[in-house]
Amino acid sequence: MPMVCLSDFEAYAKKHLPKTTWDFFAAGADECCTRDGNLLAYRRIHFRPRILRGMSVIDTRTMLLGTEISFPVGIAPTGFHRLAWPDGEKSTARAAEAMKTCYITSTYSTCTVEEIAAAAPNGFRWFQLYIHRNRALSEGLVRRVEAAGFQGLVLTADLPYPGKRRDDIRNSFQLPPHMTVKNFEGVFEGMGSCTEYGLPPNSIDPSVNWNDIYWLQSLTRLPIIVKGILTKEDADLAVRHGVQGIIVSNHGGRQLDGGPATIDALIEIVDAVQDRAEVYLDGGIRTGSDVLKALALGAKCVFLGRPALWGLTYKGEEGLREVLQILHDEFRLSMALAGCHNVSEIDLNLVQFSRL
Ligand code: FNR
Repeated sequence: MPMVCLSDFEAYAKKHLPKTTWDFFAAGADECCTRDGNLLAYRRIHFRPRILRGMSVIDTRTMLLGTEISFPVGIAPTGFHRLAWPDGEKSTARAAEAMKTCYITSTYSTCTVEEIAAAAPNGFRWFQLYIHRNRALSEGLVRRVEAAGFQGLVLTADLPYPGKRRDDIRNSFQLPPHMTVKNFEGVFEGMGSCTEYGLPPNSIDPSVNWNDIYWLQSLTRLPIIVKGILTKEDADLAVRHGVQGIIVSNHGGRQLDGGPATIDALIEIVDAVQDRAEVYLDGGIRTGSDVLKALALGAKCVFLGRPALWGLTYKGEEGLREVLQILHDEFRLSMALAGCHNVSEIDLNLVQFSRL
């Protein structure tokens, strides 16, 4: 049976992955209201499509901080890609390179940043940073990332502590012994086998605050993007601290349960930022029309978390390319059916909210 849409890859992954891995990928925090809300929110938004506009030529390309990508969908940072496919993040990097889009590599990758860069030397990549309690470790990593040719630094700001993901606790989720958080290999040797998502418990520095943006700026010339913003107040603070991009994200519903769907939070943030930084979104993107709605509400680009993992599970690089190609084709078709020739024609006039 051909793979037709992203949920086909989800069904494949659910059937073929070990239960603990599936549960880890699927997990949301607590009651999973926010995880599920990310998807449901798209159903409340409807298009105001335009007709008879001569739709023979459609251009899906856009720019991300000055770099062109083939369509406004990139890959969000997710950990442990070797759980999905033996080659792990190397396959992810190759797929993103082939599809000419941006791959945000996670701190929790199971290949090193150097291996990832070598696997796809012409790829467009940003690196997602969690700041470690041992600041020297994070500083060293930022320097390696810059040396390896990554073009942006994404600070994930919504995880002073990991959210409570019930299935991971029930399953006592641990990385298999042959996988590590590869960028830190050797650093924590002899600290015992008790880890929290591959690192010693409480590794991430919960004291991180806005002043740390200045600290990062002192370490690197890379543009800084803050991931995990859900309010206009924090969006404004981010811009005032000189960041170049904002990712509206609730971590796929894995952190604070009860927060807004990202597509609902987007509008006030776009309004507050007013072109002072680029605004992106992740969470719940499953179809080309979801992408179109997010762009209509002001996102410059969206990012895929779980669907990228499903594609990798299906066939590694090829599977992820297929996921991206399907989403590209759906997005292009949605643009055509809504009367948009290129991404600059996508604006608020394209959507209405149903009054329920
Ligand atoms: C994540 N996410 C994440 N975010 C981050 O900044 N660093 C990370 O290492 C991870 N790891 C991670 C693992 C897994 C298995 C998932 C599902 C998610 C969050 C991710 O970047 C993104 O915000 C969400 O996944 C987006 O939601 P969707 O597309 O999965 O609905």
